[in-house]
Amino acid sequence: MSVGTTSAPGAAPPAGDLTGLGIDPDDLPDGLVVADENGRVICFNAAARRIAAVTAEDVLGQRLDKALPLEDLEGRRWWQLTDPYGGLAIRVGQPERNLLLPGGREVLVCARYVRAEPTGPVRRVVVSIRDTEARRRTERSHAELIATVAHELRSPLTSVKGFTATLLAKWSRFTDDQKRLMLETVDADADRVTRLIAELLDISRIDSGRLEVRRQPVDMGAAVGRHIQAYVAAGQPADRFLLRIEQPLPALWADPDKIDQVLSNLIENAVRHGEGTVTIDVTPAASPREGEDTGTSVTVSDEGAGIPEESMNRVFTRFWRGSKRGGTGLGLYIVKGIVEAHGGAITVGRAPGGGAEFRFTLPVSAPAYLS
Ligand SMILES: Nc1ncnc2c1ncn2[C@@H]1O[C@H](COP(=O)(O)OP(=O)(O)OP(=O)(O)O)[C@@H](O)[C@H]1O
Ligand SMILES: [Mg+2]
Repeated sequence: MSVGTTSAPGAAPPAGDLTGLGIDPDDLPDGLVVADENGRVICFNAAARRIAAVTAEDVLGQRLDKALPLEDLEGRRWWQLTDPYGGLAIRVGQPERNLLLPGGREVLVCARYVRAEPTGPVRRVVVSIRDTEARRRTERSHAELIATVAHELRSPLTSVKGFTATLLAKWSRFTDDQKRLMLETVDADADRVTRLIAELLDISRIDSGRLEVRRQPVDMGAAVGRHIQAYVAAGQPADRFLLRIEQPLPALWADPDKIDQVLSNLIENAVRHGEGTVTIDVTPAASPREGEDTGTSVTVSDEGAGIPEESMNRVFTRFWRGSKRGGTGLGLYIVKGIVEAHGGAITVGRAPGGGAEFRFTLPVSAPAYLS
């Protein structure tokens, strides 16, 4: 007989061994409460005791409505309302419902009425209760995500609307240069919205585990080199970048477009949020994945102010940005999602030069027939 269960005299013993498989009710992940034909509690398992914050002595042998005093969201007493023992004889239970425990704790409850014969008296009321805290937290984080997204979309659209409305209303009053300036702002804001939407789509793929990795051989050193060239072509001084490649590198199989996205975010961050020389080290590394010995590691470091120690665990979260110069704060979240979808890992730390240092390691992940 396990803790929290007792058998009613003369009744079949469902409480100690509910399944005939020797499963202890205390091992169930959900709360389980069973009452006998008289409405007395004969089982109140460990999960139920934790959720209801009661001890076995408090509840065993008690009347069900006293041991588990549930109320619906309007404050009505649920056991009175549903009346399992006195209600309709064809009723077999109650569907899942959000109810409140004393103190206002929300729980998901459903009940089954066990009868000896189809419309006979109720012999057992079996109630399962589930904590909704975790579910509420996800719902809250979804609601926050929607609020942030709406806000992020609204500011560029407000500017687009403002400038186009002004231009339409007062077209002839502006010089060509003024018009060009306004249209350039509209153009940049439209780009921002497009980029934000692309990022949100990436996030939704990452969050739902649908991010596809199409592996091909990737030359990491050459990929980094292309990003640096693009910055130099766009006007950054060439000596702002230092690329060091430690040879020989293992042959890496990864999704080239996604690796470009990772590199572009990390290098852009170093250029935009950091200062001084941006150093990129590409080295062979131990694979973060078990059963594989080699991987490739890329470290991007700069000489700026770096990331404050207390914020380091937040940089990879959605919408976190350290300063006003920040963008939407989605970049690093996406970077982490892509790296992890490759079976890799990413860390943040302090560079020897004082700035931020981001280091990601990918397993080589060569197809089995090549290794
Ligand atoms: N190299 C760096 N040096 C200093 N701070 C950094 C560096 N890289 C990132 N950060 C900080 O981390 C924050 C989050 O970076 P993340 O790339 O996720 O977002 P973002 O650059 O602000 O916007 P996005 O990349 O979406 O345009 C940045 O706002 C910045 O404050
Ligand atoms: Mg960024």
